[in-house]
Amino acid sequence: MQTLILNGSPRKNGDTAALLSHLRKHLTGEIIEISAYYDHISPCIDCRKCKESGICVIPDKMREIYKTIETCDNIIIASPIYFSELTGRLLDVASRLQTYYYGMQKNHGHPVKKSKRGAVLLVGGGEGDPQNAFATAVRILHYMKAREIFPLICSHRTDEIPAAEDAAVLAQLRELAAFLHRD
Ligand SMILES: Cc1cc2nc3c(=O)[nH]c(=O)nc-3n(C[C@H](O)[C@H](O)[C@H](O)COP(=O)(O)O)c2cc1C
Repeated sequence: MQTLILNGSPRKNGDTAALLSHLRKHLTGEIIEISAYYDHISPCIDCRKCKESGICVIPDKMREIYKTIETCDNIIIASPIYFSELTGRLLDVASRLQTYYYGMQKNHGHPVKKSKRGAVLLVGGGEGDPQNAFATAVRILHYMKAREIFPLICSHRTDEIPAAEDAAVLAQLRELAAFLHRD
């Protein structure tokens, strides 16, 4: 089983990291984690070269991620909520999926062959509604052909309780691991 994690947090030991560390304890197989802040992935510049070729011309780590998106079984989007949205850096990474948008237009099907399972982990201090960020994350997961999406897991009181101590969310992570392992 191969799992791709897109981590949208700048805090290496923050709430998102704590949830991912807990989830990793329950996951088997290969886990490839991408940091939207530290992996130097440029945003899409809408050059439209991929519209014809189906290939993004920006030479960075995203090239490896496209390959992983082809092969992986699961994709997890994990992010703090910023202004009721995923973090800007994570949206920058997601903008590179524009190549799949053009691919879908051209092929009248999805350019990624293998369907995946998906999940969204969010953390927030407690302001606003996480549904906006969840809806964006689900849309991004669909771009990568994640078809079966686990219900939102969100620790939304981190100003009071660190995500690492949010017992209800930690239990949901165990359920998520079972969902990702299912045949
Ligand atoms: C710029 C900024 C905007 C934020 N906006 C929200 C928000 O809209 N809603 C919310 O619940 N928390 C918001 N927060 C709080 C973070 O989501 C929260 O502290 C989170 O636990 C940090 O996660 P991390 O430690 O994984 O980075 C915001 C934090 C920052 C820095």
